[in-house]
Amino acid sequence: MESALVDWVIMNQNVVGLKESATLAVNQKAKALRKQGETISHFGFGQSPFDVHPLIQNALREAAHQKDYLPTLGLLELREAFSAFYQNQYGYQFRPDHILVGPGSKELIFQALFTLEGPLLIPAPSWVSYGPQASIRGKHVHIIKTEKENAYKLTAQELDQACQALRVSRQKILILNNPNNPTGSVYRDEEIAAISEVCREHGVIVVSDEIYALTDFSGRAYRGFSEHYPEGTIVTSGLSKGHSAGGYRLGLLAAPQGMGKVIKTLAGMVSETYSSVSAPIQYAAVKAFSGDPEILKYTQNCTRVHQAAGDYLWNRFTKMGLGCVKPEGAFYLFPTSVLFIRRFEKRGSIPPKPFAITF
Ligand SMILES: Cc1ncc(COP(=O)(O)O)c(C=O)c1O
Repeated sequence: MESALVDWVIMNQNVVGLKESATLAVNQKAKALRKQGETISHFGFGQSPFDVHPLIQNALREAAHQKDYLPTLGLLELREAFSAFYQNQYGYQFRPDHILVGPGSKELIFQALFTLEGPLLIPAPSWVSYGPQASIRGKHVHIIKTEKENAYKLTAQELDQACQALRVSRQKILILNNPNNPTGSVYRDEEIAAISEVCREHGVIVVSDEIYALTDFSGRAYRGFSEHYPEGTIVTSGLSKGHSAGGYRLGLLAAPQGMGKVIKTLAGMVSETYSSVSAPIQYAAVKAFSGDPEILKYTQNCTRVHQAAGDYLWNRFTKMGLGCVKPEGAFYLFPTSVLFIRRFEKRGSIPPKPFAITF
């Protein structure tokens, strides 16, 4: 029997109307239809199609007996492994006690946005969850529209303009995803350097979403904000994309030397919300970030396959007249559908909204 409608329940206005994240909902629907025998190509959640490397799977099996709650910041061995991994890969200097382990980087981004004051600057197009996360917190969101001519990358001038408009706020937050979902773009060193200068000038904290750092096929050495603006950059990453282990739900957040207070506050938030991440998963993640050459080679090969698929699709789409920026990282194409929009309009139909394609 359906329960009676209760009209006296009052909910938080910041979350009323929030729907299940569109990308997750599409995934579930596609899965259900496939189960019914339908052939479905969907544009939902971006998921790497490869297996988790057997060495990481073994580490997870061997850690099945680990049942104790782990420290709020996360297993020390894992934070040390991640710190060394990022130092070797990208030259970043994050101390293990400034690293926080979470159930996916999505949760850690949410916790960071919840903790940090100031409006959120989002270069668009962007990943679909930043805006809703900021709204849950009641944060002002300032969208900065980027241009296809710049491969949808934020320019220092665009950021400067946005900061001028928001100058009443002493602190602002910029969230920037590099390599990028949904455009596949990868910022050049000099672009990051120029944006960093603007951040420094205007008191902008960068939340650098580097979940796709391992799936960079630009051929250039990866240079992030932590190199150009270490004092103001918080980095988030995890196992989901480069290690193809989205369902393991393990993310990491790293804060610079001068942000000890932020880490301490985040640790407090974590201890009052999810306590700590599943212990066996954390032990498995130590293996993932151990720098094991076999695992590194595997992730590089996966990235090469993404690159080949991206090149192929980009060529096909370009020939079809669906202009899109050639992807240099992550696993997305963001076609502009101007041509098709006109066709839809001519027929009197509603054209599709911009969408990304996962490969
Ligand atoms: C740009 C971007 N950031 C963050 C995430 C969250 O990743 P996870 O929570 O699995 O670490 C995703 C997942 O799709 C993403 O595309």
